[in-house]
Amino acid sequence: MKSQTGLAIVDLDEEGVDRAFRSDVLTGLAQRQKAIPARWFYDERGSRLFEDITKLDEYYPTRAETEILRERGGEFAELIGPDRAVVEFGSGSSVKTPLLLEAIDPAAYVPLDISGDFLRQSAAALSEKFPRLPVFPVEADFMRKVALPDDVHHLRKLGFFPGSTIGNMVPRTAVDLLRSMRSTMGADEGELPLLLIGMDLVKDRKVLEAAYADGDGVTARFNLNLAHRINRELGGTIPVEKLEHVAIWNDDFARIEMHLKARESFDFEVAGKRFTMAAGDTIHTENSHKFTRRSSNTLLLAGGWTPLHRWTDGEGRFSLILAQATEHRDAP
Ligand code: TRP
Repeated sequence: MKSQTGLAIVDLDEEGVDRAFRSDVLTGLAQRQKAIPARWFYDERGSRLFEDITKLDEYYPTRAETEILRERGGEFAELIGPDRAVVEFGSGSSVKTPLLLEAIDPAAYVPLDISGDFLRQSAAALSEKFPRLPVFPVEADFMRKVALPDDVHHLRKLGFFPGSTIGNMVPRTAVDLLRSMRSTMGADEGELPLLLIGMDLVKDRKVLEAAYADGDGVTARFNLNLAHRINRELGGTIPVEKLEHVAIWNDDFARIEMHLKARESFDFEVAGKRFTMAAGDTIHTENSHKFTRRSSNTLLLAGGWTPLHRWTDGEGRFSLILAQATEHRDAP
């Protein structure tokens, strides 16, 4: 698979092993606090389990954000206006994206995703729903500046980043991404782009922990699938039955952390390297930061975006924020 820059995105060795997966796992397991980047959750089974998570009773964010998109269309239209190029960071959800496009009547839709197959599938489904809307999918890593197609250069831009995915990044990475979004959308070339971004809110810790450790064990299967994937793809010998899924609220960092925790001690191998876990040791697999009105404003400002308007769902669980690229100014 080739990215926009012509570099291979998936780099397999002679045995068909994904080199980046192996190197991330080996590096992550060698650390004192074992940690594996969350992007490796999403093999085929992981992606399916993630879909199931979004439908769980306990998992409120998808429903809360969809409610806002469904009910506040008139206000989006008023503040954003028609004829924009909507630049979505990610392939787009089959539910949320159409609600936004219907509300604001854009001139073009530009989904950006690193996974070409997924991107083309969802772009095709969207074209069917909006036959008159020009769609320009771009296969690229949006953590860096992406060159948008010439066809949309003359249009005003609206970035769309729903799902509180920004919360899955540590603040330093989140700020890097927000700044890349500015460059991708041409913030320093005249017209100041807008950004509509979903950010989940701090709330009762029991509600948060339940959202990431549901009663049916779907999130547990999603988390444990990472260990199964390591065994399958990297010749691992992790005794998965000795691992348990835990989701805990870290109050200092205002985030839910997902870990795989050893119920007892054991040794295992991955790609020929040996590792040990003592009882109670964990592999840290995901963060989901939660925000307050002020902390979300601070993060956006740090990334070069000025919040203009904020919407929350009826129960005040989730926020969608409209921001505008901040003009550069050093002081005061
Ligand atoms: N960004 C969403 C959230 O943090 C969705 C998500 C990403 C998620 N990774 C996850 C949900 C892992 C459950 C488990 O809530």
